[in-house]
Amino acid sequence: MSTDAIVLLRADHKEIKRLFRRFEKAEKAAEKQSLVKQILELLAVHTYIENEGLYPQVRKQVPDLESDILESYEEHHVADLLCAELADMTPADERFTAKVTVLIESVEHHIEEEESAWFPDVRESLGRKDLQEIGAEMLKLRKKAPKRPKKLKTELVERKAAKAPTKVKVPAQAVAAVRLAEVGDGLPGMETAAR
Ligand SMILES: [Fe+2]
Ligand SMILES: [Fe+2]
Repeated sequence: MSTDAIVLLRADHKEIKRLFRRFEKAEKAAEKQSLVKQILELLAVHTYIENEGLYPQVRKQVPDLESDILESYEEHHVADLLCAELADMTPADERFTAKVTVLIESVEHHIEEEESAWFPDVRESLGRKDLQEIGAEMLKLRKKAPKRPKKLKTELVERKAAKAPTKVKVPAQAVAAVRLAEVGDGLPGMETAAR
């Protein structure tokens, strides 16, 4: 079996797009929900093996593609955010279908860029043997890849903030003024002496 990295990733893309088309035709809520669950799982695994397997190698070995790789990381990040939000939604939510539609548009744009804009350059620069090795590594990564979207970082920050005890931030000058007042209160006659 070929372990060519680009062959493996293109097969994933085909499967992702097949699920997108099924979602667009789906009418029943239960079917939409089940398709989104499958889409989120496929995308979580796919972006993981690209982020960990292919992208770092391309960055190292084909410096000319650096900006394409950075843009791709950002596109994965946008997809991660949408997927994390969708994981907490159901078809009953007003924005569920709209969010899936935006996810489909954004992922299809990204797939198109990978397949047309820079995968061909990777194939040319790396050659067969390197692509086989990267693909074999990606097959190993697939086994330990997360099957659900990552939790949103912003959400984690908000949760931490909510747990921390509430502190009112007082400007330093105000603190100094209070201290002076305390000293004044504690030492009668000081006020007169200061004058
Ligand atoms: Fe990608
Ligand atoms: Fe991809």
